[in-house]
Amino acid sequence: MDDRAVRILAICGSEREGGNTDLALGHAGELVRARGAEFEVLHLRDHRISPCSPCGDCNSRAAACELRDDMPGIVARMRAADGLIYATPVHGFGLAHLMQIFIERAGVGYLRFDRPLANKVGGVLVTGRRYSEGSVHNQLVDNLLLNRMILVGSGFPALLRNTAPEPALDDREGLDALERMVHRMLDMCLLLRRNGGEYPDDPLPSYDRNERVSRRGLPV
Ligand SMILES: Cc1cc2nc3c(=O)[nH]c(=O)nc-3n(C[C@H](O)[C@H](O)[C@H](O)COP(=O)(O)O)c2cc1C
Repeated sequence: MDDRAVRILAICGSEREGGNTDLALGHAGELVRARGAEFEVLHLRDHRISPCSPCGDCNSRAAACELRDDMPGIVARMRAADGLIYATPVHGFGLAHLMQIFIERAGVGYLRFDRPLANKVGGVLVTGRRYSEGSVHNQLVDNLLLNRMILVGSGFPALLRNTAPEPALDDREGLDALERMVHRMLDMCLLLRRNGGEYPDDPLPSYDRNERVSRRGLPV
């Protein structure tokens, strides 16, 4: 069995340093480290990520996007993790823009070609006031499933509310959900290690490699 420490990487889509999302991830990090695993936060605000351009190239290309920005390094860090948490505030009833741009660029620019996140354990954390956290959560869940990650049932979704202008971690129910999610993610990472050994280099089965061809042989 691989005896390296389990690695959890959180992708943070908040622009606000020390804000609600950072506080929540700080708490998650304490829990992960207390169990002997590694935890890192990749703050999208510290990276240069170009929005998708109008080229439309990704509808036909079979290799990574040519826009030059920090995405290749970010994808490399995601590949190296055992588990990934996508964490974002709600903005304007949807994903905060850093996370939206990241999802678009990572997905169509890089991940769609060989689904390198397949079989990694995924989790979602959403911070907001109370408007549309559920739909933002669903969007990220769909994205993790698209990338063939393993979502572990852990109780209620990790939605953290704060209606005060100052950052705070006082949503007891939300924190409870976050804690359960983090522990269940770690449990699943360990279970996969015990049962599967190291992750295979190529996690996609040969019968299901190309998402542009449906299972019935039709182009999609
Ligand atoms: C531009 C902007 C738009 C927001 N839109 C929403 C919204 O639609 N729904 C909601 O529940 N909260 C909304 N909020 C509140 C934030 O989601 C909430 O305060 C969040 O916890 C902020 O996280 P942060 O401190 O990491 O930035 C908005 C905040 C900002 C700055």
